[in-house]
Amino acid sequence: MKILILGGGGREHALAWAVSKSDQCEELWCAPGNAGIADLATCVELDVENGDAVVAFCREKAIDFVIIGPEAPLAAGVASILRAAKIPAFGPSIEASKLESSKTFTKEICDKVGAPTAEWMSFKKADKAKNYIRAHGAPIVIKADGLAAGKGVVVAQSVEEAEAAVDDMLGGKFGKAGAEVVIEDCLEGEEASFFVLCDGEVTLPLITAQDHKRVGEGDTGPNTGGMGAYTPAPMMTPGTINQVMREIINPVVKEMKKRGSPFKGVLYAGLMLTKKGPKLIEFNVRFGDPECQALMMRAGGGFLDALYATATGDLLGKKIHWSKDHAMTVVIAAKGYPGAYEKGEPISGLDDLKGDPDVMVFHAGTKPGLMGEVMSNGGRVLNVTARGATLQIARDRAYAAIEKIDWPGGFYRQDIGWRALANESTASARRPLWPRRRKR
Ligand code: AMP
Ligand code: GLY
Repeated sequence: MKILILGGGGREHALAWAVSKSDQCEELWCAPGNAGIADLATCVELDVENGDAVVAFCREKAIDFVIIGPEAPLAAGVASILRAAKIPAFGPSIEASKLESSKTFTKEICDKVGAPTAEWMSFKKADKAKNYIRAHGAPIVIKADGLAAGKGVVVAQSVEEAEAAVDDMLGGKFGKAGAEVVIEDCLEGEEASFFVLCDGEVTLPLITAQDHKRVGEGDTGPNTGGMGAYTPAPMMTPGTINQVMREIINPVVKEMKKRGSPFKGVLYAGLMLTKKGPKLIEFNVRFGDPECQALMMRAGGGFLDALYATATGDLLGKKIHWSKDHAMTVVIAAKGYPGAYEKGEPISGLDDLKGDPDVMVFHAGTKPGLMGEVMSNGGRVLNVTARGATLQIARDRAYAAIEKIDWPGGFYRQDIGWRALANESTASARRPLWPRRRKR
């Protein structure tokens, strides 16, 4: 199979790596790719949000299958245009992508099918939004309706902060994405991400993960695209997964089909595990970044086959083998991110990490330099990812690998996985070292 991956971040490097291990993958292309992906695929310049350009490229290279990584080409309708051209594509249609590109749309669907989510209202006028905020009090959550690169959510601790967020969003801070705001109750609990493949009708639950969105240690500071992630998310027990499938995923998938816009791709449910059970915070219509990097460390046989079956409506009976390992990814970002940062700095030490089966460095914002060296080329730059029998082992491997990388312009969080690691060590301290003798 000749495969084209759209995107050039850590998620796409991880997908390229997982897909390239399959015997079915004969030829791999990636647009635009990055310095790490260039080791696995032929990287090409292509306007990935222009469906006609992508179709023309696929025809020229006889591409059999397109895997779409990021949300922007999906919201631009690239999957729809590929399908209309009879080219199998992994990723939902423009209509089904609304589950990520419009928060109001998702909330309406949740209400229609009774899927648990925070109480909400949406507004286009600031005065009405502010009346609602004053009536409800803080904390309260303000969200731009459309795509805002993960920055369109304010969890306001005071009425004043909430009102300022409304003014910012409706005042044009996010352009059209903020022309409408969703205001919702603040949920309390632990967050988890859950991924499900869906071919329009049949669903295949994958595995769980947890990411760290804030830039600073202890989950403080501004939101980012994600500074690290780990899998599995220990709070997502089999019982909770069943409940999420029953109460959220399956009803939404059924409703999308009923509306004539079946969902074909990966549905990423961002969940809050509250005292009253799991509630949906948001859907994304693609793999999470950096969650995907950790997930791919555990993906085994059947992965590419399942992605293709998702695209072609053939998911029934498909299985993916997932290793029982834990995996963690730690993001190394350019100093200054998520604000202003430098690009074009050389990074060394990466070659020494090649060949370790338990460690992978997935590139995000990198590009090859003139001498073949790796240069920084973005905010989030590297994803050092490791696996192990426990999360602690995976964590120690990831941080030991980071020590070998030489890039003074980069920084990373030292505490990825802190909550789960604390629970893991308490659980192992409670476990008896030898079986207790039974009393006679
Ligand atoms: P989103 O972009 O919708 O994932 O929101 C970004 C982050 O804001 C989430 O990961 C949560 O930490 C937080 N958040 C969003 N909605 C809520 C909510 N209703 N209650 C509490 N926190 C929320
Ligand atoms: N890591 C969060 C996201 O991909 O949206």
